[in-house]
Order: sequence, then structure tokens, then C-alpha cells
Amino acid sequence: MCGIVGYAGARQAPPLLMEGLKRLEYRGYDSAGLAVINDGQLVRRRAMGKLSNLESLIQKDPVKGMVALGHTRWATHGKPSEENAHPHADCGGSLVVIHNGIIENYLELKDRLLDQGHKFESETDTEVVAHLVEEKIKEVSRGRPSTPDLNEPLLFEATRQALSELRGAYALAVLWAKAPDVIIAAKTASPLIIGLGQGENFLASDVPAFLGYTRKAVFMEDGEMAVLKASRCTYFNLKGQKIEKTPVQIQWDRTMAEKSGHKHFMLKEIYEQPQACENTMRGRFFPLKDGVLKRETGLDTESIRRFRQIYMVACGTAYHACLVGKYWIERLTGLPAHVETASEFRYREVLIGPEDLLITVSQSGETADTLAAVRLAKTRGAKVLAICNCVGSAITREADYNLYTHCGPEFGVASTKAFVGQLTALAVFTLHAAVARGAMDERAGKEFVEDLVKIPGYIRAALKLEPRIKEIARKFYRKDHFLFIGRYVNFAIALEAALKLKEISYIHAEGYAAGELKHGPIALIDEDMPVVAILTRSKVFEKMVSSLEEVKARGAQLIVLRTEGDPEIRGADFPLVLPAVPEILSPLVNIIPLQLLAYHIADMRGCDVDQPRNLAKSVTVE
Ligand code: AGP
Repeated sequence: MCGIVGYAGARQAPPLLMEGLKRLEYRGYDSAGLAVINDGQLVRRRAMGKLSNLESLIQKDPVKGMVALGHTRWATHGKPSEENAHPHADCGGSLVVIHNGIIENYLELKDRLLDQGHKFESETDTEVVAHLVEEKIKEVSRGRPSTPDLNEPLLFEATRQALSELRGAYALAVLWAKAPDVIIAAKTASPLIIGLGQGENFLASDVPAFLGYTRKAVFMEDGEMAVLKASRCTYFNLKGQKIEKTPVQIQWDRTMAEKSGHKHFMLKEIYEQPQACENTMRGRFFPLKDGVLKRETGLDTESIRRFRQIYMVACGTAYHACLVGKYWIERLTGLPAHVETASEFRYREVLIGPEDLLITVSQSGETADTLAAVRLAKTRGAKVLAICNCVGSAITREADYNLYTHCGPEFGVASTKAFVGQLTALAVFTLHAAVARGAMDERAGKEFVEDLVKIPGYIRAALKLEPRIKEIARKFYRKDHFLFIGRYVNFAIALEAALKLKEISYIHAEGYAAGELKHGPIALIDEDMPVVAILTRSKVFEKMVSSLEEVKARGAQLIVLRTEGDPEIRGADFPLVLPAVPEILSPLVNIIPLQLLAYHIADMRGCDVDQPRNLAKSVTVE
């Protein structure tokens, strides 16, 4: 997630902005920049890498001014580079934009602006906004007197009209040398907060950026704009009508603020999952034929039709995402999908060849085993699609095609929102592959999309189970063993839930295919072995009931996930009721309560939830 900051006041802005960007470093970034208005001139400084690089640049070539914007970039469109770093400018360099989010229709807007003679220096969606505002300034000012005092309302109206053409998510701010006292900001689907000071005002993606200067904040809502000056801040809707906003007093300290008030990054990231799912889907459905998959990855219908089979290779949580993806791909595209852990794939005599596709899934894009598997597949002539959360990471640089999850940086070592992002990206791929191969017609494709777009709402509903889950955790947090069981698409969720619990609570936990119980694991069952069973609506529901009876008969205490509206399940000591989600997509929702269960058990055991012992966020060695 990018970080945006802005300032209008009576103090020198650059040091304040640098301080603010440092407070947003937790959001992750790969480049940074700022723009300052000084004596009517707009000056930019941008640098790759850490903020210290930007700081050195500013020390060598200082910038002064009291109205300014700053930005840390987490790459979504276009690799990490100075050219792609914000702020982005219009042709004349007199207007800049900083932005956090994803403009879905930036390519069509860019084509139109190129036809109008605009020249672009970056690959980003954000730069399109700068040129669009510049174009709107020309249109709005046509036939109007151009006196300096009219430039502020002109900039506001031009920005407002530009926003009406954007589709997607944005928290953005605009600065124009000809309106040197004002910043125009707007919010839809990405966070934007105004900090109200004495004779100075701030804007930021998150409160830590200005918490050292003011605790009085205004949280902007979707479809709102702000006109920020040193003396005052006024608010409007996208129709240009003035609106009133009520400031709040921030009570958090800085550390709490970086976790949005949650105790750990992991819990914050669990709660970011609806957004991670929405952002990973955003703008990636239509047109279904030769649409986003071709535009974003280069994978076109022809290539997809040529594939004979798919190999899916990953590690840990990402491997579990592949296991779910296997069921989706085989059921919806008709292509065989073989899933393996990367550490096994790379040393096996694999039969992958030039007619095959290797899909790798990785949050970091730096996992050594997965990278080795990619290299091996390429030596065999296979094509590689990487599903990854980190633009420009090692795996994405070697893959033939990249489909990014847009989850923002994940700090908890235990992967949560990245998992939901990976599943979402796999669902997007499966949809387009099924349509490309003629295995799914446009109508069925539209129905699948209708189901998929409801998932963030279902995840929000599942998150509401947290109080109940805490009660259950309190009953079981002292246990030494857990068994998680599931079937069909939820078998992988049993594995993932067990991994979550074991890696943060250090409790021995196993995930098992429920049908396997009688082949050995049932020998483990007694009253000291809690069993978590996934019994949400399914074609194998009756089979799951039988498995439940097997473990109940041996004294197990049962935590059971079931679907609202379904009858009570006999023997379920601790039911957790989830919304009625189409079975094939239920893994995206069923994992939510199980992440929360693992989190609260680990927290009650006093474990270091964000940094569990012996583990690293990215395993870059074998
Ligand atoms: C999951 O909670 C773990 N942190 C770990 O299994 C992780 O999923 C695995 O190391 C793969 O990492 P990657 O997604 O960055 O490749």
C-alpha cells in the first residue's frame, strides 16, 4: 500500500513530510518522492529505495516551501523505479498528483490522452490522473477569465471532473504551481485522513504521519473531496456540493496507530482481507475474452488453449492456496492441475514440458525453493505464471506472466491477507482460463463473477464471529494438540488452519482430509484432542457428518463450521455459523474464523504472534 502525505501551513514542509513518510514506512514501499511549491515554482525530488535515499537527494539539492505533497510507492503498475515514483507531473511539470490505489481504466484514459498529444514518462496509472487534470484545466478554463484568484476554484473543478472519469480505488492529492496555497484531495476505496492543526493542516494515508503534530483528524469517506489550505479545510462531494465533516480526537499512540488500533499486525491484516480480496479482483473481470489476463499478464486465449496441463508449485500457505486452486482449475477449465511443494518439485524427475504451464504462488516472490522450481520449469520449456504480492521480486522477474495480488505489504509472519489475495487471483485466472478454453460460456462466467464479488461481504460477516471465537479460544488455548478436518475444496483449508495454529501458538496441529481419519489419525482422538471440522454446505456434507460422528464417538470436543440456515449439527460442541457461500468459493470465507482462532489461542498463550520463534517472513534460503 502506498503512503501519501500533504502539508499546508506556516512551517517548512519538506522535513514534516519526510517525518510523515517515515511514520508510514510500515506500509511498505520501494521508492519515494515529494513535491514542493516555492516562489510559484513546483519542485520535485524522487528516489528509488529507502527514504534515506530521498533524504540524501534533498540534502544535496534542498527544496523549500510550505505547501507540499509526499509519497512512498508500493508498486502495483510498473516496476519500482525513479520514473515510476510519485509525485507524477503533467506535461508542463506545473501540476503533480500523488495516489494510493488502483485506477482500473487507466489504459483507456492513457490512450485518449496520448491521442491528445500528452507525453508520459512512467508506466503508472497515477500519471494518467495528472495529465487528465491538466486536460480538464484547459477545458474548464476555456472562455473564463484567467486571473490567479480563480485558479483555486479552477483546480478544484478540473480535479472534480477528472475524478468523474476514474474507475477504481484512490486516495489522491493534487498540487498546482498556479494555485500555490491549496491542495485538492479525494478519496474512494483507499484511506485518506485530514489532520487539523493550528494554522496548518495535513493529509495522509494513516494517522501516524501527523500524530506528532495534531490529534484532531477528519476521516474522509468514499466519494468525498477536500480543499486543504493552511488556514482551513473544506469538504465536498463529487457533485461539488459542500459537505460538513466532524473531526475526531485520535486516542491511539503511534505504535497502535500503525496497527490501526489492533494489538498485532496479524490481526490488522486479518481485518484487511475484505479489501485485499476487493483490490485483487478490481478491474480484472470484463471483457472475459482476451480481457484483463491478456492486458495484465500477456496470457492470451491462444496461449491458454495450447496448454496440455498445469503444474502448481509453492510453499507453506501459498501451497495451500494452490491446493484450492487445483479444484477450481480442474472443475472449471478441464485442465489437469498437479500441485506440489516447491522443495519436492525441484528435486523430482518432473515431466513438465513446453506444452505445460507452471503457476507459482508466492507472497514475497523471494522464496528460494519456489524460485528454483521456476528456473527448473523454464529449462524444460514450460511457461510460468507467477501470482505474487511483490512487484519486481525475484520470481516475478523470471516468470513469463505476472498476476499480482494487491494486498499491500504483509508484516505478520503468518500469512493471512496474502492467502485470501492468492485465492482471489487464482479465481480470476481460473475464470479467464475457463472462458478462453470454451469450458465456461460468458453467462456462466458472469454468474461466477457475481458470486466472487460477494466474497468481501461474506468475509466481513465472518469477521463478526471474533467475540465468539475468543470465547472458544479461551477454552482450548492450553491444549497441546489439535486436529483440523475438511473435504473437497475445504481440505486445503484444514491444512492452512493447522499451519496458522502451529506456527504462531507452537501447538502441535494437523490438517487432514476427513476421509483419511479411519486410515490412522482416528487413533489419536480422545477428549484431549480438540477437532475442528469444516461442515459448511457441500456436496460431501453427509460424508463430513459421518467423519464427525467417528471422532465424537471417541470423546473429541468439536469446533464446527457450518452454514447459516442449515440444521444444527449433532455433536457440534462449539458451532461457528458462517454465511451461505457457494461451496466452490467457500475456502475464501471458511479460513477467516480459523485464522482468528489461531490468533487468539496464540495471543492467550503469550506468543509473539507477529514474529513467531524460528520463522522468517520470507524463506530466501533452502
Ligand atoms: C505462512 O503463514 C508462512 N509464513 C509460510 O508458510 C509462507 O507461506 C511460505 O514461506 C511461502 O512464502 P511466500 O508466499 O513468500 O513464497
